[in-house]
Amino acid sequence: MKILFVCLGNICRSPLAEGVMKKMCAERGLDWEIDSAGLIDYHKGELPDPRMMTTAERHGYKLTHRSRPVKTADFEKFDYIIGMSDYINTRIVRDAPHVPFHAKIKNVAEFFVETEDYDEVPDPYCGTMRDFEIAVQLIEDACKGILKELS
Ligand code: 4NP
Repeated sequence: MKILFVCLGNICRSPLAEGVMKKMCAERGLDWEIDSAGLIDYHKGELPDPRMMTTAERHGYKLTHRSRPVKTADFEKFDYIIGMSDYINTRIVRDAPHVPFHAKIKNVAEFFVETEDYDEVPDPYCGTMRDFEIAVQLIEDACKGILKELS
């Protein structure tokens, strides 16, 4: 299984999702390939936002991903391309080179197990530390759902 998580800047939500999913896969002995990317290249080469790193570390996740934009080859390579919101997904679909690839593109909210009051992982970049906490809660829930559905 190869999964790519996508957000806007690839320094908050999707590198967190990558770190959470990788840890959960390792704990279960699953040899899945997990990566993340952004719609914009503004933060290319950067580690995740320090607020995201700190919050993730508090929950036991060490984030080492370096930001990169989505590239055309990603649509061929990955089995699932999971965006963090409808807005992100609309833009991924627009950039997908071939219509058959659209079936690979999912909204992270489709995988929520216990979460009822969100239909996306809200962008914490301009928010408070509480928004980074919420991102961890939502992404942990989605990753459990991904494992349940795809493993
Ligand atoms: P992310 O958050 O999409 O979760 O990585 C953002 C990071 C950077 C920006 C926007 C959102 N930005 O505009 O630079």
